[in-house]
Amino acid sequence: MASTIFLNGEFVPEEKAVVSVRTHALQYGTGCFEGIRAYYNEKEDALFIFRLEDHYKRLFLSGRVLCMDIPYSIEDLCKITVELLQKNFSKEDIYIRPFLYKSDTVIGNFSLPKLKSAISIYTVPMGRYVNTEKGVKVGVSSWTRVTDNSIPPRAKITGAYVNTALAKSDALNSGFDEAVFLDRNGHVLEGSAENLFIIRDGIAITPPVSDDILQGITRSTVMTLLEKELKVKTVERSIGRTELYQCDEMFLVGTGAEVGPVISVDGRKIANGEPGPITNKIKKLYFDAVHGNIPTYKHWSTKVSPK
Ligand SMILES: Cc1ncc(COP(=O)(O)O)c(C=O)c1O
Repeated sequence: MASTIFLNGEFVPEEKAVVSVRTHALQYGTGCFEGIRAYYNEKEDALFIFRLEDHYKRLFLSGRVLCMDIPYSIEDLCKITVELLQKNFSKEDIYIRPFLYKSDTVIGNFSLPKLKSAISIYTVPMGRYVNTEKGVKVGVSSWTRVTDNSIPPRAKITGAYVNTALAKSDALNSGFDEAVFLDRNGHVLEGSAENLFIIRDGIAITPPVSDDILQGITRSTVMTLLEKELKVKTVERSIGRTELYQCDEMFLVGTGAEVGPVISVDGRKIANGEPGPITNKIKKLYFDAVHGNIPTYKHWSTKVSPK
C-alpha cells in the first residue's frame, strides 16, 4: 500500500515527498533524526507508539546542536505522528523516522543558524532488526567512534552514520552480526545503533552518557526495568574491552534492535555462548512493556487506533 509522508507541513503521497539533490543535508550530512517504534497490539487492535514524546524531546536537543529552527512544538509533532500513523495504519510493527534537516540548496555556507531547517516524517513496517532469539555475535571495530568534539554522537546527526556504516560493514564482512565501537582510549562505547550493557556478578554496567554514546531511550527504559522489576542495579562507568570477554552476560539495546542478547565477542563465547538469565528476563519485560502489556508502564505508550 502506498504510504503517506509528512513533508513541508503537509501529508503527501510518497512519490511527492521529494527534495532537491542539492539539499544541504544530502550533500553535507547536516540533519538529525529519530527512530521510533510502534507495536501492534492484536487484543486492542491498536498500535502503541513507544515513548513518543521522549523521542521528540531528544530530536529537539539534537536540533540545538545543529542550530535547527523548528516551527513546531513537541506536542505538535506528537499529534502529527499519530495522524500519520492513522493514515498508514497496518496490523504490524511500524518504524517511524522523523528527520530534521538543513534544506537550503546552496554550495558551502556552513553557518548553521543561517541555513533553513525542514522536517519530514515517514513510516515503514519493521520486524526484528537483530536476532533477539538466538543472540548476536559481535566484533570490536577497528573504526574509532566519532567524538563529542568532532561529530557529537549525542545529537544523532545523519553525517555521523558514515562512522556507523564503516564499522557495521566491516563487522558483517568479517562474519559478525554487529560491531562494537571503542573510543580513542580503548573504552567500550556502544554498538553501531545500540547501547550496550554487560552483567558482572549480578550488576549491570553500561558506559556513562559523558562517554561518546547516544543517550538511548531504550537504555533508560532498560535501566528502569532492571531496577524496578528485577532489582538489578546499573552502574554507569567506562568499560574496558576485555571486560566484554570476561562478563557473565551482555546485551545490546535500541529502538531498532530492542534487546539483543550477545553470545560472543571477537570469537570468544560469553559464558556458555547462550543468552544469559538476566538478559532473557529483561528482554521479556521489554517486549511486554512496548506492547502496552504492563499497566505500570502504559504511560510510555501512545495508543493509535485505526480511523
Ligand atoms: C548510535 C546509536 N546508539 C544507540 C542507539 C539506541 O538509541 P534508542 O534506544 O534511543 O533507540 C541508537 C539508535 O538509534 C544509535 O543509533
